[in-house]
Amino acid sequence: MKKDERKYIALVTGATGGLGTAMVKHLMDDGYLAVANYHTQAKAEKWKEEMRAAGYDVPMYFADVSDFGSVGEMVSKIQSEIGTVDILVNNAGITRDGAFRKMSFENWDAVLKTNLYSAFNCCRHVINPMIEQNYGRIINISSVNGQRAQFGQANYSAAKAGMHGLTKTLAIEVASKGITVNTISPGYIGTDMVMAVAEEVREQIIKTIPVGRLGGTFEIAHLVSFLASKDAGFITGANYSINGGQHVY
Ligand code: CAA
Repeated sequence: MKKDERKYIALVTGATGGLGTAMVKHLMDDGYLAVANYHTQAKAEKWKEEMRAAGYDVPMYFADVSDFGSVGEMVSKIQSEIGTVDILVNNAGITRDGAFRKMSFENWDAVLKTNLYSAFNCCRHVINPMIEQNYGRIINISSVNGQRAQFGQANYSAAKAGMHGLTKTLAIEVASKGITVNTISPGYIGTDMVMAVAEEVREQIIKTIPVGRLGGTFEIAHLVSFLASKDAGFITGANYSINGGQHVY
């Protein structure tokens, strides 16, 4: 089937998390065929049921995004069972916060592999099929804390800053192939990840957000769907801040 005769396929990594769930729903509401990557089987099964009950029947594919081979197997399966990934949202991520002087190599390594190597692994496996079809959208979900300093997040900041470095160079390398590559840098959004920060620390952080509240997951999903659209073809290599005014530069 030719590109314009079928639904655009949007692969969202870490889809079962708060941001990922909102992205999948928004993309499906906007007419894309969202495909969900997951890591934990039990969580995925529960999520699939909840999504089905909400009216979203989402194909799900396992991959450990920190593992190049595992991502390769997932992308091959999607390619043969559904089709070429038209839109990739590199959303999977973890935190292992702690002051740098106490940070273990394991916590550094896990965050770099899950948050940054994952972006390489996924982009590398989808890029050539995108080039072949002369169309693609890649959206890297970074963070305000990849743009500025955050006490306790040396690993996370390094990985998230690195994501935008990847965005910029990949964007210019594939610009002539109908492929855009952009970064979204969310601030503090009402997800489990942010709610895991100690309440008193989180309350202090919210005081530094001029809009006066945490962001909503749908607010990030809205931007993802916009950048995924065909009409966003002249936007590439950009980094969209969406942080309630917390970091203005
Ligand atoms: N600024 C300056 N100094 C600080 C500090 C801060 N924010 N927080 C702690 N310190 C100081 C402490 O007072 C202490 O000083 P002394 O040694 O002189 O007593 C020293 O730093 C070490 O403090 P801790 O032992 O408490 O440090 P820790 O290793 O346990 O880490 C922390 C503390 C868990 C990192 C805590 O500061 C924290 O939770 N910070 C928030 C981190 C954060 O924002 N994470 C975001 C998660 S959500 C996300 O990442 C999504 C996204 O994209 C935005």
